Amino acid sequence: MSIQVAPKINSQAQTDFLPLLGTDYVEFYVGNAKQAAHFYMTAFGFQALAYAGPETGMKEKASFVVRQNKLTIVLTTPILTNNEVADHVYKHGDGIKTIALVVNDATSAWEETTKRGAKSFKLPTTLEDNNGTVVTSGIHIYGDTVHVFVERKNYHGIFMPGFRKWENEYFKPKDTGLLYVDHCVGNVGWNQMNPWVKFYENVMGFKNILSFDDNDISTEYSALMSKVMSNGNGYVKFPINEPAEGKKKSQVEEYLEFYQGEGVQHVAMATNDIVKTVTELRNRGIEFLRVPSSYYDDLLERVGSIDEDLTPLKELGILVDRDDEGYLLQVFTKPVEDRPTLFFEIIQRKGAKSFGKGNFKALFEAIEREQAERGNL
Ligand code: FE2
Repeated sequence: MSIQVAPKINSQAQTDFLPLLGTDYVEFYVGNAKQAAHFYMTAFGFQALAYAGPETGMKEKASFVVRQNKLTIVLTTPILTNNEVADHVYKHGDGIKTIALVVNDATSAWEETTKRGAKSFKLPTTLEDNNGTVVTSGIHIYGDTVHVFVERKNYHGIFMPGFRKWENEYFKPKDTGLLYVDHCVGNVGWNQMNPWVKFYENVMGFKNILSFDDNDISTEYSALMSKVMSNGNGYVKFPINEPAEGKKKSQVEEYLEFYQGEGVQHVAMATNDIVKTVTELRNRGIEFLRVPSSYYDDLLERVGSIDEDLTPLKELGILVDRDDEGYLLQVFTKPVEDRPTLFFEIIQRKGAKSFGKGNFKALFEAIEREQAERGNL
């Protein structure tokens, strides 16, 4: 279970028709869950947690669950063809199917969202074992992605009924300090950002807390637009990007082409010590985007004084940005699969509640260099 500590952004929790307590898990559909689990454990420092598959009565697919602090990742793979997991992997490659959200009442969450126009993915369903009950329900969002509402207040098992404890006898990888999901970003098609903003407002009761237009997010070659949606208590934040006209192909267009549609672009995972976390991730083979070293020449003039030494930030390519409330440190991995689609952000917030607007240009130029290498700019 994952309940994030985030500041309240308004006091409407009592009237919130969809109270969300945080991100429960993120589920990836992948070509090989056993190997993917090894990657998330070895490289990112997650621990083996639970397993479901033919041995537990799930015939068509297998799922490995790994956890680090309040981050839970479910890696699911098709064992047979002709099912929705196999179709998803064939079409999209490895990618995120589910952003699961913790609720106190999964039945109410489903009723409140579907009556406001959400398309049902899963009717409220009660799962039971010796450790109690979990109620889940789900709705469709952009592309083939879904939200699953998880009500686990009457459950005391390790993950969910249908899963058994999974222990990896071989090794117990060391934690890398990743704590919880800070935000999940979706890439949607041309002119689709505002319809999805409306969806999160009307169907899920979210608010648009920040907007970036193509003047904020553009380089010489490409542009995108983004709006950040937040639920009432601020625990769950979903920025939504769409491409904007530029001289060349934007990173969002590249994503849409290779993912074959809309989907999750990146998941930001929070840490309390970004230098330590990123050093550890780099040592374990995770590749990060790099900005030119000139980025650091006038960094302190741009963001003011910070607690961290500049040297390790520069060595690791960690970016810094400041807003009215404080500053943040962030860094982005390269895509973690062969298609140029999903990647991760590592973020440390020191008061700032924003998303690094001051870094957009440097960052997108770094992405464009990668796009050009792939022949996709
Ligand atoms: Fe982000």
